Amino acid sequence: MTHLPKPQPEALAHSIRVSERIAERLVLARGWLSFAEFMQLALYEPGLGYYSAGASKFGGAGDFVTAPEISPLFAEVVAEQIDLALRAVDSGDLLELGPGTGAFAAGAIDVFNRCGTPIERYRMLEVSADLRERQAERLARVNHAHPSREWCDRLPEAFSGVIFGNEILDALPCERFVTHDDQYWRLGVGLASESSSGEPRFEWRVRPADGSAPGDDEFRREAAHLQQSLRALGIELPNDYCGEWQVGLDGWFESMATSLTSGVMLLADYGLPRSQLYHPDRARGSLRCYYRHHAHDDPFLWPGLNDITAWVDFTRVAEAAERAGLQVQGFTTQMAFLAGGGIEQAMARALDAESLASSGARVAEQSKLAGGLRRLLMPGEMGESVKFVMLGRGDEIDLPAFALRDLRHTL
Ligand SMILES: C[S@@+](CC[C@H](N)C(=O)[O-])C[C@H]1O[C@@H](n2cnc3c(N)ncnc32)[C@H](O)[C@@H]1O
Repeated sequence: MTHLPKPQPEALAHSIRVSERIAERLVLARGWLSFAEFMQLALYEPGLGYYSAGASKFGGAGDFVTAPEISPLFAEVVAEQIDLALRAVDSGDLLELGPGTGAFAAGAIDVFNRCGTPIERYRMLEVSADLRERQAERLARVNHAHPSREWCDRLPEAFSGVIFGNEILDALPCERFVTHDDQYWRLGVGLASESSSGEPRFEWRVRPADGSAPGDDEFRREAAHLQQSLRALGIELPNDYCGEWQVGLDGWFESMATSLTSGVMLLADYGLPRSQLYHPDRARGSLRCYYRHHAHDDPFLWPGLNDITAWVDFTRVAEAAERAGLQVQGFTTQMAFLAGGGIEQAMARALDAESLASSGARVAEQSKLAGGLRRLLMPGEMGESVKFVMLGRGDEIDLPAFALRDLRHTL
């Protein structure tokens, strides 16, 4: 990892505290933790984990950028689709999952006020106390008082409206597996020998899911289902193939579906249908770590200072959602969603803004927006790798953003 910038001493000291907490858990777990448990601690341990503690994370000063940070056109287009969905379900309630810095909410609130969206409440569910504070600061700078903002600790009961989340599923803890003589083995975490300075170090430890560790039964069920459904697709994973899946998706969608009494969920995440994600060509899996805009594949490097993500199996998402009583009402790429939702018109509107009085300001804004547009839409950037899925109950809602390229048959 010689290409990565070195963290400041204070950040390194924080990472050592995170490593010590993980090492304590490892000792309690008799030397082996699933990768999902490691990821949960590294990202979400209160006060310590990457998302729970105070590092910058998002944007230029952070480690990665998400679509709402890349361009205001993302919130512009997605919020217009949410406006249509709210009108279709006749509700004034929006819930955003994991709002990050609040960039999406800030842009969306502008759109709702411009469109006269029938929205009363903008609720936010955020697991990180640090991010909640940042969202409140960001939204305090938004010019409109309407709709009211509300932060919640858990899903509301009997929610009717739209639930939106960008890059939530790919940030959920994932299990890792490796194939070995036609079996799926658990790729977990153990303690490596200590560094010269005495801080804990971690390494991959592979073991069969033989029932002796917590989560083995769930792993076996999930692995058997994956293996069977890949076989039905004519896919046999080669030996030493490594892959991931997010743990607890059935429970996650069950609680979403219990909360959502009417309306839809709209989710955008890096991922693929099963037949493409678990393809023999992707034999190293999709686990990626981000540190100051450098992508790497070592989650044991500076725990607590890196974001860790894995791509989503959207077929598994559809199965979990359908088991919970929701139907897949739309599935497409980010490129098709934004193009179908009118991103060109949104760009033209942004360039017509009265604030861009001089031609110099217009040219500067145009080149900034075009740069953002490229990153959102190009197939080699986010255009093809990020997918939008809409899940709902009751009557289907037809959103123009899903009409351009309906990919539901690929799930
Ligand atoms: C990659 S960030 C995306 C942030 C933001 N949506 C954006 O696009 O900039 C992942 C977010 O998911 C949140 N998160 C993680 N687990 C969650 C859960 N179970 N429920 C809701 N949010 C969660 C994190 O705290 C974080 O805000």
